[in-house]
Amino acid sequence: MSLAVELRDVSFAYHGGPPVLEGVDLAVGLGEFVAIAGPNGGGKTTLLRVVLGLEQPTSGSASLFCEPAARCSRRSAIAYLAQRAQAGGEAPVTVREVVSAGRLAAGPLFGQLRRSDRVIVDEAIARVGLTASAARPLRTLSGGMQQRAFIAKALAAKPELLVLDEPTTGVDAASQESLAELLAELHGELGVTILYVSHEFGAVEKFVQRVVLVRGGIVFDGAPHELPGLWHDPSHSHA
Ligand SMILES: Nc1ncnc2c1ncn2[C@@H]1O[C@H](COP(=O)(O)OP(=O)(O)OP(=O)(O)O)[C@@H](O)[C@H]1O
Ligand SMILES: [Mg+2]
Repeated sequence: MSLAVELRDVSFAYHGGPPVLEGVDLAVGLGEFVAIAGPNGGGKTTLLRVVLGLEQPTSGSASLFCEPAARCSRRSAIAYLAQRAQAGGEAPVTVREVVSAGRLAAGPLFGQLRRSDRVIVDEAIARVGLTASAARPLRTLSGGMQQRAFIAKALAAKPELLVLDEPTTGVDAASQESLAELLAELHGELGVTILYVSHEFGAVEKFVQRVVLVRGGIVFDGAPHELPGLWHDPSHSHA
């Protein structure tokens, strides 16, 4: 199996601070859909940043598509939705403009979208259910709709690897479910490799083959049904 992501015995600390991650081994094959969960401050975002080559491991190694993560030549194949991306929600740009920026980032041209790119942008907007709002300024949308626009931006890059850090913060339960379905569709139809961070992964639990729990390192890596009981989303338990 070809690997999208490989961490080998990775430890990480922010500039001389205490270790945030220790002894992390993680291999994600092309086409896997992995949920990453764990407590606040457990190191989930840091782990993603190391995976993406945005932070260098203090020791150990990080590879992306079999190249050192920090020097990966296939950046345009990766879309990363950082935590709390809705900070841009105040800017006076429309949904279509935001999503187009995702397409521009992927293409060889600056400032110009070709017709084929515009089709891809419209498809991405349709996938997240924002077609009717495409011309609306982002700031007039609800937080959940803004979050969908950012997801569409990531999709417009037609990524092979999609990395989402808590994309459902501020999104209601119904929208969380429909995002999970959307991701499952991308995974199933297009074979996109997905790393999805969330502490409430009840919505994705039924779609993923694998859950990774991060608390200063990887404390669990396995199928959702093997999870220790207390890690199941309480909203999905019937105790
Ligand atoms: N830029 C930074 N500089 C110094 N310390 C940091 C920095 N970013 C995160 N940390 C620390 O690293 C630890 C892990 O943080 P991280 O953001 O990776 O956790 P997380 O699991 O993503 O948490 P959350 O669920 O709240 O998003 C925390 O103790 C945090 O305070
Ligand atoms: Mg985080």
